[in-house]
Amino acid sequence: MSKREIVIIPGDGIGPEITAAVEKIIAASGADIEWIEHLAGLSALEQGLHVMPEETIEAIKEHKVALKGPCTTPIGKGFTSVNVQLRKILDLYAAVRPVRNLPGVTTRFSDVDIVIIRENTEGLYSGVENVVTPGVVMSMKVATEKACSRISHWAFEYARHRHRRKVTVFHKANIMKMTDGLFISKSKEASLEYSDIGYQEMIIDAGCMKLVQDPSQFDILLLENLYGDLISDLCAGLVGGLGVVPGANIGDREAVFEAVHGSAPDIAGKNVANPLALLMSGVMMLNHIADTEGREEFFECADRIKHSYDRALQEGDKTRDLGGTLSTTEFADALIKRIEAGN
Ligand code: NAI
Repeated sequence: MSKREIVIIPGDGIGPEITAAVEKIIAASGADIEWIEHLAGLSALEQGLHVMPEETIEAIKEHKVALKGPCTTPIGKGFTSVNVQLRKILDLYAAVRPVRNLPGVTTRFSDVDIVIIRENTEGLYSGVENVVTPGVVMSMKVATEKACSRISHWAFEYARHRHRRKVTVFHKANIMKMTDGLFISKSKEASLEYSDIGYQEMIIDAGCMKLVQDPSQFDILLLENLYGDLISDLCAGLVGGLGVVPGANIGDREAVFEAVHGSAPDIAGKNVANPLALLMSGVMMLNHIADTEGREEFFECADRIKHSYDRALQEGDKTRDLGGTLSTTEFADALIKRIEAGN
């Protein structure tokens, strides 16, 4: 098989440190990849490019898959978020974020196994805001039948493919009767086509309480854009924090894999960031390529990486955010050593 060319976006803040670590670990796994580097965010602006450069978009269209570090969008300077732009331009409508307990990472709960599926293109992220009159501003929440129905079907298909048992929709249709009302009516409609999978609706405030009381009652969470963003971080907190939750943004043509966390400017350049969430996103990426392109060897590379971090965490090799002492590069080296030793 030929080398698989994949776009890599180092991003900003801790992005370059963690993408460098992840590239080294994926290379050690034996995955035959050629990384095609492109910029986005602050680093693109600093090179005199657009915050979301056209050439980065074109490269993702050409290669279909990208691994992306977190990007900083300057606030208050009129820039639309890099992430929102990327998801909209490529129509990456499904954000998938698996949240699971990891061996060796002790948290309040030990049985968390939730997949968050977030609608990625509309809701309050429509970017439609205006000044109604001086001192009064408005932000528009958009819901379309097409997008609500599409993400609902996607969630149920995912549930069936992965042998999951239940889809729970969090909403606030008691207040946002039209927008959230449409979201739940479309998800309910989709649920009728999947009688093998359970379906549940829950008002989001009660859902948050239940999540922190007993997360094991949830399987797949289906959410509109803003709720998905917030609940992802809440769920990250259940399993050890933002350093351990990966993600994928998937459309019908392209897929962009990235951690849930941001560019963490508070720890950037210190070699202390946890590269694990981006690495786990890389594992999702390898599995996605294996699944969609029949490159079975990528499944094996993904398994090797997964095995290495499970073992490392169990044996206490962790970064500071997980209570360990290893730096970003030391953690990466600890995984590479295990991959090379075959354990
Ligand atoms: P953040 O996720 O960057 O950081 C929140 C807290 O978690 C910080 O204390 C940080 O040090 C810690 N943290 C995050 N990732 C970590 C890691 N891998 N290892 C250890 N600790 C980690 O969120 P924040 O501070 O709200 O956002 C910072 C910037 O990131 C903003 O410009 C924001 O717009 C951007 N952002 C980008 C995202 C993306 O590119 N997908 C997603 C979220 C935020």
